Amino acid sequence: MAFRVIPILFVVASINILLCCEASFDLKFSRIVPTPPTLPQHFSASFAEIEVFLGKVISKNNGTWYYDYANQRARFDHGEGQRNNFCGGQGLSPKNSKAPCSIIFTPEEDLIILYRESMTCCRLCGKEEGCTILKPDWMKNGSKLLYEETINGDDCYGYGKKGAVTTYDVLYSDVSGFMCRYHEVVVGITHNLTFFKESYNFDPQPDYLFEVPQWCNKACPHPYKPPHQH
Ligand SMILES: *[C@@H]1O[C@H](CO)[C@@H](O)[C@H](O)[C@H]1NC(C)=O
Ligand SMILES: *[C@@H]1O[C@H](CO)[C@@H](O)[C@H](O)[C@H]1NC(C)=O
Ligand SMILES: *[C@@H]1O[C@H](CO)[C@@H](O)[C@H](O)[C@H]1NC(C)=O
Repeated sequence: MAFRVIPILFVVASINILLCCEASFDLKFSRIVPTPPTLPQHFSASFAEIEVFLGKVISKNNGTWYYDYANQRARFDHGEGQRNNFCGGQGLSPKNSKAPCSIIFTPEEDLIILYRESMTCCRLCGKEEGCTILKPDWMKNGSKLLYEETINGDDCYGYGKKGAVTTYDVLYSDVSGFMCRYHEVVVGITHNLTFFKESYNFDPQPDYLFEVPQWCNKACPHPYKPPHQH
């Protein structure tokens, strides 16, 4: 694929070369500006995902994040229509590459790609390649308030930093810390995950969500290799 670039979102935790961006802007919202958001220790939330290139929508789908930092596990579901960089390119769903796909970080430090419909699966990478679960405070260090935007009626503050492979990536949150949107631009492709506020759930995450099927025991044909860091 022409634009297959690994999204910084999933590897950012281990990459220490995040430089910060220069930005100046006028504060639109008059209330107290929150500090960069910290992810709750465990939560789930659904989102609408979209990718736009040169004004054209190239993918659109919904999905869900399940995050459980205390137990070192996370799962990112991308629904029908997804064009996720981690999911694609492994030949796991040849009939429908846009079929629903789960990306699972296990406590064993494997990053698993799973297509439930076709019952196909592989291990993409692990800790050695920098594929580790996002730290709750990943946005704290070195990020700056870059933007303010009203997203689905909420006043959201966008904190960002220049990523290793993204042009920049920005996490928008409201004053309560609710993540409104994750926004990145990678090689000209705008990629947004806009979270549904009403879907947020802060309950402990059940084990079954992170279970990987028994038959899921092969390495991916094209394992993830980390980008050059210098
Ligand atoms: C914050 O980022 C800088 C620059 O990337 C790095 O040197 C430093 O170790 C980081 N600090 C923490 C607490 O992660
Ligand atoms: C995503 O979910 C919203 C709200 O439930 C729905 O209106 C929309 O059609 C869904 N979009 C896709 C691409 O499935
Ligand atoms: C993506 O997010 C950015 C930043 O919030 C916003 O300016 C842009 O309109 C969004 N694009 C889409 C298609 O949602």
